[in-house]
Amino acid sequence: MEIKAVTGDIAGIAAGAIIVTHYEGLKRPEGETATVDKALGGAIASLIKQGDIKGKLNEITLVHSLGKLPAGRIAVVGLGKQAELTLNKVRGAIAEAGRYLRGKGVTTVATIVMGAGVNGLKTEDAAQSVTEGARLGLYTFRRHKTKKSNDNSGEIKELQVVDKAKAIVNRAINKGTIIADAANWARDMVNEPSNFMTPSDMAAAARKLAAEYRLKVEVLDKKQMTGLGMGGLLGVSRGSQQPPTFIVLTYKGRTSAVIDLVLAGKGITFDSGGISIKPSEGMQDMKGDMAGGASVMATLIALAQLKPRLNVTALVPATENLPSGTAMKPGDVITAMNGKTIEVLNTDAEGRLIMADALSYAKKLGARAIIDVATLTGACRVALGEICTGVFSNNQELANKVVAAGNEAGELSWPMPMFDEYKEQLKSDVADIKNIGGRYGGAITAAKFLAEFIDGTPWVHLDIAGTSDTDKEKGYLVKGATGVPVRTLVNVVLALAQK
Ligand code: BES
Ligand code: MN
Ligand code: ZN
Repeated sequence: MEIKAVTGDIAGIAAGAIIVTHYEGLKRPEGETATVDKALGGAIASLIKQGDIKGKLNEITLVHSLGKLPAGRIAVVGLGKQAELTLNKVRGAIAEAGRYLRGKGVTTVATIVMGAGVNGLKTEDAAQSVTEGARLGLYTFRRHKTKKSNDNSGEIKELQVVDKAKAIVNRAINKGTIIADAANWARDMVNEPSNFMTPSDMAAAARKLAAEYRLKVEVLDKKQMTGLGMGGLLGVSRGSQQPPTFIVLTYKGRTSAVIDLVLAGKGITFDSGGISIKPSEGMQDMKGDMAGGASVMATLIALAQLKPRLNVTALVPATENLPSGTAMKPGDVITAMNGKTIEVLNTDAEGRLIMADALSYAKKLGARAIIDVATLTGACRVALGEICTGVFSNNQELANKVVAAGNEAGELSWPMPMFDEYKEQLKSDVADIKNIGGRYGGAITAAKFLAEFIDGTPWVHLDIAGTSDTDKEKGYLVKGATGVPVRTLVNVVLALAQK
């Protein structure tokens, strides 16, 4: 889909459909909606008057132009109460409208900059949100389908965004496209079944990105992992026939050799649980256990195009977690890259083992700050549901920035406690630490485990077990991977680069 800024009057645009808006509580059409209504001879005003159009959020009313306008159809989209409008509602509304029109077979659409000037929303931000919502909401994953879809008649090929401020809108479209496409790239990675997304496939994807976006890439093999003492990653990979990989992808935004920020992402390409095997029901979802890794790689795609003045390195330890005769067994003791010994009491708590090595590696690189992203615990999904990501940190300032960046993106997150009392649950009888902390507070004890590999570096851990995928189509989310927290991470880096 091509999105472009166009000056002029939306009522005069020739397209399969044009999109205008209405707000809850307004008695008559206003702004561009009023202009369109006039050309239609009062059809929209009449629908409002009769109560067919209420302006409720995401309400869509299709009106045919019957030759009164160059466009064939008019979609009147409800945005709720004006005083409650947010950029995230704009993202959701354009997504719902886009899917609705796609379902009708419409291939060219024009829209106003939904929400611009309402409730303090700036045209630039609203236009970026329209772009993001359209690209995210119209995303499909059809790589393994041999036939065309029957629930949508094709593809929307063109979206014109109509406004006076063409230059501003064009800039916003450009930024929104970069950010949303990065999130969609992560979605593609996560949606891919594990037989198409092995640790080697992830490494190949990293190499491809490096070539395309002029990033630096290094992929460590098993021999190098052994040399570095990555006992966590090697231990988890023991049950698998697929060789593990450790991806180091770097974006350089300034000439200094200092790494301002490491983004470390969990790259379990399939989590069966290992010898502590999971129940078969729902196990297929564990193809997405590399969502953290995909998200940090995707973030670098956006950075390479937006060019903030900051050096950012993405680290992805990648492996399968499978049972076999060579697999790690409950009770085994392994040594992580930083020398700490770990008693593995449950092989399904594997994410923290590979992340221990990634965080140790980040420390060795001398990173000034670290953010890690992992589908780490079912407990986080239980605690916060599928609405928000868990935020765990040793640094209030950095944590606040991450939460603020997430709010801006519409990717909600919430801080969780990190009291030292939780650490007691990780005491081992035979090693320095054990990899499970008992039944209660599982997301927190997992975070406390990771903290053992951080020491003083400002650090934020994002547990995305609840937010990385969804089984509902809602707003700009479609079934499958959400792309969380790519847009948050991009915003964080842009904010850090600004000061
Ligand atoms: N990948 C899972 C966590 C997960 C669960 C992600 C559900 C997404 C949806 C992780 O490796 C895991 O298995 N965690 C265990 C830890 C437990 C054994 C301490 C869990 O949450 O049950
Ligand atoms: Mn697991
Ligand atoms: Zn896992």
